[in-house]
Amino acid sequence: MHRKSIKGTKSNKLLGKGIVLGITGSIAAVESVKLSRELMRHGAEVYAVMSADAKKIIHPYALEFATGNPVVDEITGKIEHVYYAGDHDKRCDLILIAPATANTISKIASGIDDTPVTTVASTGFGKVSMLIVPAMHSSMYKNPIILENIEKLKKYGVQFLTPKFEENKAKLPEIDDIVRAVIKTLSNKDFQGLKVLVTAGPTIEKIDDVRFITNKSTGLMGIKIAEEFDIRGADVTLILGHTQLKSHVKTIKAETFLDMHKAVMANKDVDIAIFAAATSDFHVESSCEGKISSDKSFNINLVPNKKIIEEFSKVSKAFIVGFKAEYSLPEEELIRRAYERLQSSEMDLIIANDVGKEMRGFESITNEVYVIDKNQKIYHLPLDEKEKLSEKIVNIIKKYFNEKK
Ligand SMILES: Cc1cc2nc3c(=O)[nH]c(=O)nc-3n(C[C@H](O)[C@H](O)[C@H](O)COP(=O)(O)O)c2cc1C
Repeated sequence: MHRKSIKGTKSNKLLGKGIVLGITGSIAAVESVKLSRELMRHGAEVYAVMSADAKKIIHPYALEFATGNPVVDEITGKIEHVYYAGDHDKRCDLILIAPATANTISKIASGIDDTPVTTVASTGFGKVSMLIVPAMHSSMYKNPIILENIEKLKKYGVQFLTPKFEENKAKLPEIDDIVRAVIKTLSNKDFQGLKVLVTAGPTIEKIDDVRFITNKSTGLMGIKIAEEFDIRGADVTLILGHTQLKSHVKTIKAETFLDMHKAVMANKDVDIAIFAAATSDFHVESSCEGKISSDKSFNINLVPNKKIIEEFSKVSKAFIVGFKAEYSLPEEELIRRAYERLQSSEMDLIIANDVGKEMRGFESITNEVYVIDKNQKIYHLPLDEKEKLSEKIVNIIKKYFNEKK
């Protein structure tokens, strides 16, 4: 089978993984083309299997075109179900049924296989990881027999994604959420059992009740690092400053320096702590209630904040990684200043980046960083998307964390 080339590669997290995408007769089957393409953008090879009712909603040609692979819409003398999910080393890594109808869920729960999708599921049951993504009207989803069947399958280790409840429907979740669940299911859980704290985003310092001082950080770099640890099995707590960005990992919002300080100190019992937040260096000495009148000028006195990481390192046994943002510096100076901070703050690693350069640092989806250790060994991670950088950063952290253990 040829591999379909695809533009817009996002990661290699599913590279080498074979995914059977079971599509059943829900109107959400129209999303299966997009879902296939997104899985492929992370490196997966996708093989579509369709029920007869799925074919009434979307034509197999669309899936053949999207995946670059023939679509199985009947089980023939080639015994496709055994090829995909039987007991041999070429079988697929995951059976993903998305969308899954009430009918298909109940058939799998009862051990019935009379469609290509249920036959592949029946063959791989208990041996191949299975992720089911239900989609149906709420009235169907609330049927106690369907709910019982879902619970029954969960007991056998089948994973389910919770639908998006909207307009009286139990809809297919967002494609990104399905892809993330697939990546998590198939990832190497090398941080399983470890607790990780990540701070991200800017804090705000109030001038009055409507104005504040902040910085240009969006929190994206820290969020991507938190999500990478989450995918790899860690129990992650993300402390997120003042940003519109959100994450699916367990998040504590911390708007001000004081909020951030309090949240970090309350989470000192972790194995690894990454300080990626752009916490304000100053707070306003005395902020005012209400709205300061614009009739006359006024002065703001800024008082330096404590360094949260320094206080944290005194009370926590965590492996500590800090970030140091500088503005338009020569490379050696950027590294020298970061190393100085690493020494003064008792960190294990520090990550330096120059936010004065284009496409790096704040408000950018890309970054270029230098990871520096206590012996001044430097890892230069060239300009790349923050999502891809986060994987490399976490790999470096893993090496040092394991050595320190
Ligand atoms: C337009 C249309 C949309 C449908 N949407 C859903 C749905 O979202 N979820 C569901 O469980 N059944 C839905 N059905 C009903 C299923 O297609 C029907 O139960 C069928 O037997 C499912 O067969 P399958 O599970 O083998 O694909 C829909 C039917 C039609 C015609």
